[in-house]
Amino acid sequence: PKNFIIAIDGYSSCGKSTIAKALAKRLNFIYVDSGAMYRAATLYFLRNNIDCNNRDAIIEALENIHVELHLEDDYTQVLLNNEDVSEEIRLMPVSQNVSKVSAIKEVRQAMVKLQQKMGKTKNIVMDGRDIGTTVFPDAQLKVFMTAEPLIRAERRYKELKAKGDEVTVREVLDNLKERDLLDTTRQESPLRKADDAVILDNSHMNPEQQLEFVVNLYKNKI
Ligand code: C5P
Repeated sequence: PKNFIIAIDGYSSCGKSTIAKALAKRLNFIYVDSGAMYRAATLYFLRNNIDCNNRDAIIEALENIHVELHLEDDYTQVLLNNEDVSEEIRLMPVSQNVSKVSAIKEVRQAMVKLQQKMGKTKNIVMDGRDIGTTVFPDAQLKVFMTAEPLIRAERRYKELKAKGDEVTVREVLDNLKERDLLDTTRQESPLRKADDAVILDNSHMNPEQQLEFVVNLYKNKI
C-alpha cells in the first residue's frame, strides 16, 4: 500500500510501542513514537527550570524546542536540540511531568503538526493517545490498547529496573494511573477510543500473540 496509517492508542505502559515497533518491522512500515516528542519537550522544561504547570512560560519556550526522531533498526533515537536524549526521556522525572505538559493546547498543536507531516506520504505505524482521534482520524487501521493497571505497572517496573532505575512498583503504578487520569480528562484531545478502533486488551497475551492479532486486522484491511 501507499500511505497506509496504523494508529495505536491506549493507556500508559500498555506495550503500545512494543507492538507498534514489531508491526512496523513485519510490514516494513515506519514507526513513529509520538509520546517521545512530548517527553522530549518535557525534558527541555525540566532542564531549564520551567515550571510544568506554568502555561505561559511553556508556550513561550516552545519555539526553542526542536525535536527530531531518528529511526534506527529497533530503536528510535530522540534528539532534543540535536542532543540524544533517548534514555533520559524514559526516566521518572519526565514521566511525572509529561502529562501536564501534553495537556497544553499549544504544545499539542505543535506536536500534531509534526506528526501529520511525518505521515503525509509514507506507510506508518504511530503510537500515542490521540492518533486515531486527532492526528490521523482517517487512519485505515486503529487499535486501542489496554491492560490491567497492576500488570502494566509490573511490566514497566521490570523494564526500568533492568535499566538500573531505582523505582518501586508502587511508584510506577501511581504514575501510570496519574497519567491515565490526566490524559483521559484533559480538554484538548483527551485519550479515548476512536469509534472505529479495535480494542486490544493484552493483560494475558504475550507480544507474539498481540502481533498476530494486529497483523490479522491489517490483512483484513488490504
Ligand atoms: O507514550 P508515552 O507513555 O511515552 O507518552 C508519554 C505521555 O505523553 C503520555 O502519558 C501523554 O500524556 C502524552 N502523550 C500525548 N499524546 C500522544 C502521545 C503521548 O498526550 N499522542
